[in-house]
Amino acid sequence: MDTNVFEEMAKRYDTEDRMELAKIIVQEVKKELQNSETKSLIDYGSGTGLISLELSEVVDSILLIDSSKQMLEIAEGKISQKGIPNATVLYSDFTKETPELNADIVVVSLVLLHIPDTNKILTELFNILNKDGKLIIVDFDKNEQIDHPKVHNGFSQEELKNKLKEVGFKTAEIRTFHHGSRIFMKQDASMFISSSIK
Ligand SMILES: C[S@@+](CC[C@H](N)C(=O)[O-])C[C@H]1O[C@@H](n2cnc3c(N)ncnc32)[C@H](O)[C@@H]1O
Repeated sequence: MDTNVFEEMAKRYDTEDRMELAKIIVQEVKKELQNSETKSLIDYGSGTGLISLELSEVVDSILLIDSSKQMLEIAEGKISQKGIPNATVLYSDFTKETPELNADIVVVSLVLLHIPDTNKILTELFNILNKDGKLIIVDFDKNEQIDHPKVHNGFSQEELKNKLKEVGFKTAEIRTFHHGSRIFMKQDASMFISSSIK
């Protein structure tokens, strides 16, 4: 999706509905972060930080990356307001250029659907992970009700698993964890979490 859309949305992104959904996602992501107190985490496509700013106490450090400056401005405001010492932000778009970075864990929540070339972004995320690092993806299951030129209509778990293996991940586990009403472009939809080890 054109990132300008997100620039425009930034100030009104944190609606009750999105915050509610984020809580459900955070709960699920936390299950994947047991014993991660010494690990570095990158939240790719962090938006306003609804997911990773709730994870600061379960990992060592958090880097919020987004291709929208305005989203990051909101996230930075929250970081200073809440006094989160181990969180920083970085403006970047890996589909254009990937900076020299590394992390033990990468979280990608509701971002993959906005990036046309799934293989390319998965490869970039694989490359920044340390050995045995973990990629956690949260997104929508394939949904034939959705038809939008700039958004994937969700993902088939089998196809995504194959892509993750092709990119080089040793393991790829995917499961549906939530069904919600009108949560994907105003359609009922289900969400999956995928966890893969490099
Ligand atoms: C639907 S929001 C999700 C925000 C957050 N991850 C969450 O779950 O609340 C999608 C975010 O991905 C960002 N984004 C879209 N394309 C991107 C890209 N190519 N690189 C980095 N961020 C991107 C947008 O700017 C936006 O902040």
